[in-house]
Amino acid sequence: MRDPRTDRLLSWYDANARVLPWRMPPGAAERADPYRVWLSEVMLQQTTVAAVRAYFHDFTTRWPTVDALAAAPDAEVMAAWAGLGYYARARNLLKCARVVAGDHDGRFPDTEAELRALPGVGPYTAAAIAAIAFGRPAVVVDGNVERVMARLAAIETPLPAARAEIRVAAAAMTPADRPGDHAQAVMDLGATICLPRRPACLLCPLSDDCAAHAAGIAPSLPRKAAKPAKPERRGFVYLARRGEDWLLETRPGTGLLGGMLAFPTSDWSDTPRDVPPFAADWRDVGEVRHSFTHFHLTLTVRTTRMAGNPDRGSYAPLDPAALPTAFAKAHRMLT
Ligand code: ADE
Repeated sequence: MRDPRTDRLLSWYDANARVLPWRMPPGAAERADPYRVWLSEVMLQQTTVAAVRAYFHDFTTRWPTVDALAAAPDAEVMAAWAGLGYYARARNLLKCARVVAGDHDGRFPDTEAELRALPGVGPYTAAAIAAIAFGRPAVVVDGNVERVMARLAAIETPLPAARAEIRVAAAAMTPADRPGDHAQAVMDLGATICLPRRPACLLCPLSDDCAAHAAGIAPSLPRKAAKPAKPERRGFVYLARRGEDWLLETRPGTGLLGGMLAFPTSDWSDTPRDVPPFAADWRDVGEVRHSFTHFHLTLTVRTTRMAGNPDRGSYAPLDPAALPTAFAKAHRMLT
């Protein structure tokens, strides 16, 4: 028997599902393409639907299949990802595409466990693909789902300790039929009605089922353990221009912004050393701020048009869209 809350939620979804380019309409006989589901789920980690749309369109136009993506040069994929952030996702995206193309004949495996074994596919993504692309009753829990479940069950334990209780609540609502629609219904409810600060409980199909709403505490859930403040780091970034060309480098493969196109920089720390790529009359043009997952960064932007023999990088034409956001902000200071 289906949980009556799940029925109410699916009826709401049938009428209100967001139209998204990687999604089948509610109740469609055909399942969504696993490649598009995987790509969208990786893009949507830490990123909003609004930000992802254009990237998703660009990727699927240029690389319509996982085999096409697997065959793409690394630099092109990293450049196409620029601006989405969390660049390890893009490196793993390519690794995963190559494993699916090379070891699985271009077909995504259809169980949660096998999906989980792919590079960059964590428990959330494996569950989402299994449910949405393969109709498996996987329990899909992302940030939206955590919020919806914490409120429905009035779970007052703070995150992350609340995760186990939240999972039990989510599992209780996951149906054997239409698990993909159900997962996306919870996501849509979380993204459009069960909002973080101001939930629109009057519009919610589950308000009569919601323990937090009954107790008047919906907006304050889920509670979160206080996070330590992010440290501040500083650095220098060097923008050297020669005619129409810029001094550019590709950052080393694995660290922060790994594999991305970049301007040369100093170290990023409390006390960065000002080490320009060549001796010249470097001019300060100001500072840019950017926040990463684990720290805030203030970069002093320095520039020169003088010629010199750089100890890093090489001069090349620049497509600013290929820069990660921290460097795009520095570039904008000069244009
Ligand atoms: N957020 C993450 N995955 C999503 C999906 N499939 N639909 C809507 N929002 C999402």
